[in-house]
Amino acid sequence: MRDEIRFILGDKPHGIRDVAPTTTVLEYLRANGLTGTKEGCAEGDCGACTCIVAAPGAAGVAYKAVNTCIMFVPALDGKQLITVEHLQSADGALHPVQQAMVDNHASQCGFCTPGFVMSLAALHQNNPSPTRAEVNDELAGNLCRCTGYRPIVDAALSLKPGAGFAVPDFGALDTAAMLAIDNAYFAPRSVAELADTLLAHPSATIAAGTTDVGLWVTKLHRDLGTVVALDAVFDMRGIVEADGFIRIGAMATYEDAMAVLSAHYPDLGLLIRRIGSKQIRNRGTIGGNIANGSPIGDSPPALIAIGAVLVLRKGSEQRRMKLEDFFLGYRKTALQPGEFVERIDVPLPAPDAVFRCYKISKRFDQDISAVCAAFLITLSHGVVSAIRSGWGGMAATPAMSKQAEAAMLGKPWNENTLLAAMKALDSDFTPLTDMRASAIYRATVARNLLRKLFVETTADTPRIRLDIPA
Ligand SMILES: Cc1cc2nc3c(=O)[nH]c(=O)nc-3n(C[C@H](O)[C@H](O)[C@H](O)COP(=O)(O)OP(=O)(O)OC[C@H]3O[C@@H](n4cnc5c(N)ncnc54)[C@H](O)[C@@H]3O)c2cc1C
Ligand code: FES
Ligand code: FES
Repeated sequence: MRDEIRFILGDKPHGIRDVAPTTTVLEYLRANGLTGTKEGCAEGDCGACTCIVAAPGAAGVAYKAVNTCIMFVPALDGKQLITVEHLQSADGALHPVQQAMVDNHASQCGFCTPGFVMSLAALHQNNPSPTRAEVNDELAGNLCRCTGYRPIVDAALSLKPGAGFAVPDFGALDTAAMLAIDNAYFAPRSVAELADTLLAHPSATIAAGTTDVGLWVTKLHRDLGTVVALDAVFDMRGIVEADGFIRIGAMATYEDAMAVLSAHYPDLGLLIRRIGSKQIRNRGTIGGNIANGSPIGDSPPALIAIGAVLVLRKGSEQRRMKLEDFFLGYRKTALQPGEFVERIDVPLPAPDAVFRCYKISKRFDQDISAVCAAFLITLSHGVVSAIRSGWGGMAATPAMSKQAEAAMLGKPWNENTLLAAMKALDSDFTPLTDMRASAIYRATVARNLLRKLFVETTADTPRIRLDIPA
């Protein structure tokens, strides 16, 4: 074991000891003179704190824009952190993104500018010739209150492909031993090591991408006690197709999983694209979204409708559980102390099954659902031969609409069946009124989403999706 956090800061190896493990990267930077990175919201919503984290992987070094306000410093271990201070070259020349921002008059008060520059530097690195839609998607998590987005987007579209960042010597960091700080923070390096660590610390807080857990510290000022971090559990990040399933390691991020899930379930890809922002999707994991147990998490309704199965692990024992059985009550899950989500098995779709998924939120990007609905329906000669549903925002947990499903199964898929299913929804759910939506709005929207499913699976007209980026 070692207690030094080792990463590359800019282009130089950097070691840190004696730091409280839930210190955020943003706090650390600003306390140590790197004040180019700004704090706006401290909850992942505004992008002012955006930096780039680079990490070596199977496909080379991956460069990701992240919100440093909700990332703990030890999560940098073994990685490279690039801040706005590191963009200028040794001879003082601006990074092409900085120059483009100047040339396009894309900054007024400048508070948001370092965050925009870092998001665009990540885009420039990963996709040197982006479309306007790709630029908009990259910037959906960066807020500017005074310049307006047009010159910023113009700056992004004016960029020419460039040389990219120099790759540092990650091997020199020597991070093979497990990072363990003050008996309060452990970063195991394999699933087996994770299982052992959690057996020894069964009441520890598990920290994955910390896009939820980070806010417990920055907004709720909660003491997390002992933390077991999953960042270095590399064998829980993989996504493979085998035996009729897409097997998703619980540490796979949304960005990791989006392409493979979209290929089989296009609507699920569209849903994931609307989860948080690029920065959130670069760190947030599907395992975290499920284990968080929120009634308004976006992936559970879709994965319940698809029939996903969780692989839970405690020590060397594994157990499989249908996702719909995992949620026991408001933010209460079936996880036992010392147990964790190791993998999510998503069945491949049957050739004749149709999957539809709808997210209703006040804002298109970077917003939590008021209602989320997903359906996997099979029609045989106009009759509903199979139906599974998943709903978010309608109950204390993500849930299926069993009575509406019963009203559909084995019936001709026509207006009468639809009306019966819409009526049955009222027996399935008694939604709440909260700041996102009223109970009556939720109930009405839910009924209308069933009608939307009906129209989309019966009308001859081509399907129009307004949420597909141009
Ligand atoms: C700005 C912003 C926007 C967001 N937008 C959305 C959105 O649109 N839709 C949405 O659904 N969510 C959204 N979220 C919430 C969050 O991003 C997701 O819930 C995310 O998937 C959590 O994953 P994580 O890896 O960051 O989990 P963490 O924050 O690390 O952990 C979340 C919870 O899961 C537990 N946990 C994590 N991994 C495991 C595991 N393998 N085994 C057992 N327990 C585990 C943790 O202990 C904790 O209780 C948003 C958050 C922010 C800050
Ligand atoms: S300070 Fe707003 S996203 Fe980090
Ligand atoms: S330039 Fe002022 S907030 Fe963007």
